[in-house]
Amino acid sequence: MKVNMLLSKLFILVKLIVMVLCELENETMKIRKLSDGMKLSIASAAYQIEGAWNVADKSPSIWDIISHKPNVINDGTTGDDACKSYEYYKRDIEMIKFLGVDSYRFSISWPRILPTGFPNKISDNGVRYYNNVINELLANGIEPIVTIYHWDLPQSLQDLGGWANPLIANWFEDYSRILFKTFGDRVKTWITINEPKQIGLFGYGLSYLAPRLNIHGVGEYITAKHMLLAHARVWHLYDEQFRPQQKGTIGITIATDFRTGMTESPEDIQAGSDAMDFEVGLYAHPIFSADGDFPESVKRRVAKRSKEQGFGRSRLPKFTDEEIEFVKGTSDFYGFNHYSTRFYTREGFAPGTYPVPSFDDDLGAVSSYKNYTPAAIIHCTEIPKGMRQALNWVKESCNNPPVMITENGFGTLGGLQDKDRVRYIMRYIDSVLDAVDDGVNVTMYTVWSLMDNFEWVNGLRIKFGIFETDYDSNMKTRRPRLSAFWFRHLVATRTLDPNFEAQFLNLEF
Ligand code: BGC
Repeated sequence: MKVNMLLSKLFILVKLIVMVLCELENETMKIRKLSDGMKLSIASAAYQIEGAWNVADKSPSIWDIISHKPNVINDGTTGDDACKSYEYYKRDIEMIKFLGVDSYRFSISWPRILPTGFPNKISDNGVRYYNNVINELLANGIEPIVTIYHWDLPQSLQDLGGWANPLIANWFEDYSRILFKTFGDRVKTWITINEPKQIGLFGYGLSYLAPRLNIHGVGEYITAKHMLLAHARVWHLYDEQFRPQQKGTIGITIATDFRTGMTESPEDIQAGSDAMDFEVGLYAHPIFSADGDFPESVKRRVAKRSKEQGFGRSRLPKFTDEEIEFVKGTSDFYGFNHYSTRFYTREGFAPGTYPVPSFDDDLGAVSSYKNYTPAAIIHCTEIPKGMRQALNWVKESCNNPPVMITENGFGTLGGLQDKDRVRYIMRYIDSVLDAVDDGVNVTMYTVWSLMDNFEWVNGLRIKFGIFETDYDSNMKTRRPRLSAFWFRHLVATRTLDPNFEAQFLNLEF
């Protein structure tokens, strides 16, 4: 009994200390104006919101297939209905209009447009749906930003190897050509692929995301090369055949969480920098660096480990000289997704820490979120300064490109009074403004996500929406959270005010 009381007192004390520390950190935030030219946006993705997984002639995507398997999605849910955006897309656009943002980033479902995966059959239903969404956005003064591929590959193409088959470059080019022809008169910003690392490492190297192949140390590298070549094909296609008339921009979005040393020791700093090369540079370096190709540190480490392990050649495939030239410079902007920061060290790493071979074993380091308070979904652990550091990494390593922040947001277990989300977003935008002061060319900031949606293997349980989605209601009713009002206020005033609760006293509707 006494021990319990002592423990609960200790818990309250720790909580108080954490609250005071948080307040202190908040106090250091000043009222700031957003930088001129930084557009504000909100995002979603097809499989996560549309539902209607089997209407009309749509064929199953890899996510339809795995979400229907037992014990894959943590809460046993699927994206079969999700937010029912396919039926009620107008309501999504009303919500976006309410926020007043400049643009809406959403994705197109490949199997909804091309049920066979190939261009021999274009779905009228699919085309009609996306035409409706695009036209409704434009009619409301909202710019559509379209992700061509946000993880929902047609299962038919997966059966042929998916991103592990080099022919994917042809298939992706054929699909993209149809999108440019059909929607390119109105869509002026295209994102080819969302987060190649998540697709390759978690889908082919591990069994975390679809298609859950788990061929570690091999699958992630083969697919990295193929995704880069497919992306470059589509960039060249747009650049040569569509840009002259359509006059849009096209780029790739790379998950750019920050990786840094556990301590300031030279060894830890090296481990952090190698982690950045493996996790971000692997995809960014071939496109944005002056010399192209995969980062030297990754080539060296994977070649060495492959040799020791008896592979006849490096598990990291080589680019030919022509391919290096073909990929280099193929992004008009750096699409930047960011959620958190991890800290790396080689102390405590030994062969056998991770499966052999594997991406983590090749990197040869261990990592953690240090003593930061873990968020409901660990990859949202709030470490705002990492945003500034990651943006500066892009500036330094990628020739200071225009950076479109295409995702940043906070996952919770729900609730309308989401002060934690407001706090997270506010502090991250503050860090973006620091990066702008450092000379990073940030042209857009996007909150992930418009509304709660199907959060991949976490299912419907984890909620990223600034609007709540009521999954129990037939229409999947939405309600604005505190964060929606806060973001709306930010959009209207372009002022970041740490006293965000006080701001609401002056709100008028
Ligand atoms: C993905 C989103 C996802 C978000 C939050 C990003 O990696 O692009 O689809 O919902 O993270 O986990």
